[in-house]
Amino acid sequence: MPIQAWFPTFIYQAALQSKGATSFNRELWKECLQIREYDREGQRWSKNSYPGGYTSYASMANLHKLSSTFMDLAAKITKHVRKFTRHLDMDLEGKKIEMTDCWVNMMPKQVVHSLHLHPLSFISGTYYVRTPRNASAIKFEDPRLSKFMAAPPKRADCRPMNQQHIKYRAEAGKVILFESWLRHEVSANQSDEERISISFNYDWR
Ligand code: NI
Repeated sequence: MPIQAWFPTFIYQAALQSKGATSFNRELWKECLQIREYDREGQRWSKNSYPGGYTSYASMANLHKLSSTFMDLAAKITKHVRKFTRHLDMDLEGKKIEMTDCWVNMMPKQVVHSLHLHPLSFISGTYYVRTPRNASAIKFEDPRLSKFMAAPPKRADCRPMNQQHIKYRAEAGKVILFESWLRHEVSANQSDEERISISFNYDWR
């Protein structure tokens, strides 16, 4: 074969744990509701910056240090992050990877999470707590999009590896990991019920 692919972009998706997801998510859901109720500052911030929804991103982004349930979640996620960094061939010999931020996102119907990336970290991701039917997917963008300039559009039947966007369905109990520079968004939630996820960042040193 005269042509080979180089510089791939990896996205990791797996079930957080092999069993017990339902009861674990029930506990997380309960705490998410309590956090929203308690977090007045976050409610105010969300009104302007996350219209119709609630996120603790700007007010309580250290949930993995505040609650034992979230601490437990962080420990479980870290195992997946290790696996992912091994796949990426990252040399972390003698270094420690650590969750630095952890926050809740609650999206009622029609709430949008616009295109963004996660600065000041190397691996980021999301864990899904509650994903009612028709809950919106997470959509990733080809990181080279701004470099394509005069490139023609892709054919409608292009191979998956040549797509410029990829959507992952939000599924309760699953964790998605990506390198923090990979831009992503969540389109308007089409479900009548709330879509609840927990996002996080990792650092290494
Ligand atoms: Ni994000």
